[in-house]
Amino acid sequence: MTRITIAALRARRETNTPFSCLTAYDATFARIASDAGIEVLLVGDSLGMVLQGHPSTLQVTMDDMAYHTACVTRAGVHSLIMADMPFMSNACMSALLENAGRLMRAGAHMVKLEGEAWLAEGVRELALRGIPTCVHMGLTPQSVNAFGGYKVQGRDAVQAERIIKEAQQLADAGAAVILLECVPAQLGRAVRNAIDIPVIGIGAGPDVDGQILVMHDMLGANVSRPPRFVKDFLKETGTIESAFKAYREAVAQRSFPASEHCF
Ligand code: KIV
Repeated sequence: MTRITIAALRARRETNTPFSCLTAYDATFARIASDAGIEVLLVGDSLGMVLQGHPSTLQVTMDDMAYHTACVTRAGVHSLIMADMPFMSNACMSALLENAGRLMRAGAHMVKLEGEAWLAEGVRELALRGIPTCVHMGLTPQSVNAFGGYKVQGRDAVQAERIIKEAQQLADAGAAVILLECVPAQLGRAVRNAIDIPVIGIGAGPDVDGQILVMHDMLGANVSRPPRFVKDFLKETGTIESAFKAYREAVAQRSFPASEHCF
């Protein structure tokens, strides 16, 4: 299996071949996911909730992220490894550069930042230093307190227009990928068509370039009520390995997400 690079994700977009992404936090699951052909592994700050038992991602530290990124890297996977910049790790430009560098040294191939067009300068500075970025837009869980809950974003025309415009500004600033969480499927499609970099969706409909899920959610291991965009692939397949393969296959064939997973 050849290693997945950013160029490979761009090629998938150009050939309209959707790719699959999953969160991974340790070497064992990273290896199983990579062997199942999952193209992108995200060392997500969701680890604060699914591993550490916190009520949100806000408690996750840079030490946590560097540790789990190194664990995933040690698996020697074929997948592209993306690592999350945790809450307030980009509080100023020097913190952003230092902390992104730390995740890259731990083995990440790309860092993910939550925010919108205000991140453009940081994205540009990172790109100049050879650090590719994925900007996570729409429902950004680190802003749960500002949103007043985990709510669908971009439902009205003004909000939707703003998200499209800001995604364009981030692509122009040099972002490598946009990740859109919890937006109407129509907006997912509009953002995808407005920019020329890969768009990954989670609850953003089927018409984006890649899909991502939190691993625990798609294995039915979420103790709380799963969000609408989640499908339990373990229930219908029986083993973790086959659940990962079924997810990859469903994404590639655009049978996931189905209408019941969309807003
Ligand atoms: O941290 C995470 O797992 C994420 C996904 C929800 C995209 O950001």
